[in-house]
Amino acid sequence: MQVLVTGGGGYIGSVLIELLLERGYRVKCLDRFFFGEQTLSELSGNPNLEIIKDDIRWFDPGILNGVDTVMDLAALSNDPSGELDPEKTMEINYKGRVRVASLAKKYGVERYILASSCSVYGFQDEIVCETSSTNPLTTYAKANLMAEQDVMPMADERFSVTVLRQATVYGLSPRMRFDLAINGMVLGFYKNGKIPIMRDGTQWRPFVHVRDTSKAFIMVMESEKEVVNREIFNVGSNEQNVQIHPLAKLIAESINLPFNFEWYGSPDKRSYRVDFSKIHDKLGFRASYTPKEGAKEVYDALVSGKITDNIKTRTVEWYKYLLEAQKIVREVEMNGIIL
Ligand SMILES: NC(=O)c1ccc[n+]([C@@H]2O[C@H](COP(=O)([O-])OP(=O)(O)OC[C@H]3O[C@@H](n4cnc5c(N)ncnc54)[C@H](O)[C@@H]3O)[C@@H](O)[C@H]2O)c1
Repeated sequence: MQVLVTGGGGYIGSVLIELLLERGYRVKCLDRFFFGEQTLSELSGNPNLEIIKDDIRWFDPGILNGVDTVMDLAALSNDPSGELDPEKTMEINYKGRVRVASLAKKYGVERYILASSCSVYGFQDEIVCETSSTNPLTTYAKANLMAEQDVMPMADERFSVTVLRQATVYGLSPRMRFDLAINGMVLGFYKNGKIPIMRDGTQWRPFVHVRDTSKAFIMVMESEKEVVNREIFNVGSNEQNVQIHPLAKLIAESINLPFNFEWYGSPDKRSYRVDFSKIHDKLGFRASYTPKEGAKEVYDALVSGKITDNIKTRTVEWYKYLLEAQKIVREVEMNGIIL
């Protein structure tokens, strides 16, 4: 059984590939490696892993030969990154992923799983489930929803399509991200002894651990087609809809340090809670990790020096840097400027 993971060098992808290899799957990873190839360095000698450095917008479709399942994770992966260049975001997150799905179907792949996000719901007062109306507020969220809407009708008896709307992820990964709420709070605590909390802390957010969301992709692939084909699943658990201020307290508890915090931002009353009953009831999905455990592992890794907060761990800053660098190179090429 062979699985193609796009974006496999990323925060979720690098953990997902590790789990797939542990379970004996053969894996192809297709990624531009915007955050570097070292994210897969511990796995790179594995004979069951093939690494392809290419772009979902123009890769040679021949790599889909022999692939049974595509897990499509490649994307500019958060709201602020999506706003840096909205056109590029649409090119990659929407059109790029629709390209992956349609080529997968053409090349006889049996299953396609799209990594989407709970951000398609926007902020709503009610608890939202898969049949709730969507309200995408950013380019990132809109591109996710448009990709969902274009890939779903490709499903038929032979080609199974599933959409996974993931909660905000936390926990340790070889491509560390501190721009995610829980990981960012832990970093603030580690660096300044204070947990940064976005005002006013009463807002609700849904969370899921990086190994749990990876497990969800594998569960979908291993489920009967009839159960997952043409289906959307929210990925997370009802117990991990949490309010930001109590969450910060939990983080301090997990690290066993006095609870100190600092406010930032203007009061954000926007809140949302997600119902995760469907994935629990239909696939038997249960979260194995809690925010407390995730925060502790991230804190311990910071203390031991296993991870550091370089610019690549702050997704939007890194993409901003790459876009600026690309602009300078173009100017040099056009004007023949040599420094
Ligand atoms: N992390 C979260 O909290 C979260 C929540 C909901 C949804 N998601 C979605 O899950 C997926 C994975 O997220 P992540 O946190 O691992 O993000 P990430 O930024 O760590 O990983 C994305 C990977 O995609 C690659 N990539 C980007 N554009 C590419 C292109 N054009 N061609 C090939 N590769 C490209 C990057 O190099 C990177 O390795 C994304 O689609 C993201 O939107 C993430």
